[in-house]
Amino acid sequence: MPTTDATAPFVDLPAESFRALGHEAIDLITQFFADINEVAPFPARTPADVRALFDLRLPTAGEDPHTILADWSTKILPNSSVLGSPRWFGFVNGSGNQIGAIADALASALNANLGGWKASPAATEIERRTIAWLSEMIGYAPDAGGLFLSGGTMANMAALRTALRSKATWDLAAEGLQASGARRMTIYMADHETHVSFQGAVDFLGLGQQALRKVPSNADFTIDVAALEAMLDADIAAGMTPFCIVGHGGSINVGAFDDFDALADVAARRNLWFHVDGACGALGAILPELAAHFRGMDRADSVSFDAHKWLGTPYEAACLLVRNPDSLQQAFVTHATYLLSSTPSEYTGFNYFDYGPQLSRGWRALKVWMSLRQYGVDGYQAIFRRTIACAKHLHALVVASDEFEVVQPEPELYIYSFRYAPAALRHDDAALDLLNQRIADEITTRQVAFVMTTRIRGRVTQRLSICSHRTRIKDIDETFEAMRGIGEELR
Ligand SMILES: Cc1ncc(COP(=O)(O)O)c(C=O)c1O
Repeated sequence: MPTTDATAPFVDLPAESFRALGHEAIDLITQFFADINEVAPFPARTPADVRALFDLRLPTAGEDPHTILADWSTKILPNSSVLGSPRWFGFVNGSGNQIGAIADALASALNANLGGWKASPAATEIERRTIAWLSEMIGYAPDAGGLFLSGGTMANMAALRTALRSKATWDLAAEGLQASGARRMTIYMADHETHVSFQGAVDFLGLGQQALRKVPSNADFTIDVAALEAMLDADIAAGMTPFCIVGHGGSINVGAFDDFDALADVAARRNLWFHVDGACGALGAILPELAAHFRGMDRADSVSFDAHKWLGTPYEAACLLVRNPDSLQQAFVTHATYLLSSTPSEYTGFNYFDYGPQLSRGWRALKVWMSLRQYGVDGYQAIFRRTIACAKHLHALVVASDEFEVVQPEPELYIYSFRYAPAALRHDDAALDLLNQRIADEITTRQVAFVMTTRIRGRVTQRLSICSHRTRIKDIDETFEAMRGIGEELR
């Protein structure tokens, strides 16, 4: 295609040219998915190497879109991590599904802005319906409220702001946290598994790190409810104002579930907000065999989770659900005249800008709506079960091996931590810490799998997050065997 056709006269491409470009892009995407089970999950390139590839001058003359697209195969893909690989076990990253990629392309084409209803009539109603479906999946009533946000971090932040607004006894909207006489507002969660997003949230909300009260956890990493009660009493006596308890719905290192019923009881007795951080695991509520873990989650005032984790939608798609939709409005309602400048009429709809922190909002819901329709609850149950089976299989391998050590209970979720610890080295924690870090680094740079470490009760361990719908038992077997071999080689 001649350059002039593609770039001049600086308007949209003619339909035929755009179709050709689109076909080229869909061919690239198709090939990406066709190769995804075989490619290296991590490119093992240095930041300097990658930076050099993209160290380009600001374009002055426009380029042919086909030339731009060519960078995908030559520069972008070979220097990208493939989170969709069945052997990407890092962070808690989702695998990205195909229909979600299509949905994102369609959402971008329509360019809906899901702040106000009038800018996004169908899109808003799809988001509302998707929120209702997700509410049903986690056991909330379908008239619960909620919205999509960028990630679990933002969802937790929005939850805490909603909690704060709901529980403050003074006019928080007007006076903020600077009201004279305002006391320290405090939040409670289990100490070992506290997710870093809460450190960010208390900072962002101006509460300060001291507001985050870490409650001792039990041997299984769940919150010690008796210790929570004692801490609440002591803090109140010391002049603090507890306002929120956070329960883990699948914690970051070991996938632990707190006792939601017990936490809901404490919150109800003391008039506290009860939030469940279910970024990793809240949607496990669709599995009947996990029902015991989810008992009481429907009593939480709010639940956050990431569709871009276990549901496998592409980034970004997190969700905050609240039992009472008015609480979101109370926390986030806007008062700009231009936003509501037309006369209320039959075309006045639900404006998400009154229910969350964003004014302009992308259409995150579309990929979740399409994914739920394509897979259905049945499909997701099958995917979830497969990931949990992989984690349990890994645990069985660890239990059966003399060279590895169990550091957590048998996993109920897809997150699992364990330690390389051959008998001869078990007396030397410092050496084992170093060795475990080297094993994770080596397995990653040798491009066997992408593995990261964490610390469990202070010691460095392997940590695998197996939430990909593409991971199979053979991936676990081969990764485990490679770890064992590397451990033997390095020790
Ligand atoms: C328990 C927990 N909460 C919150 C988050 C934050 O989610 P995001 O990375 O989507 O911001 C994570 C991410 O892994 C998580 O595991």
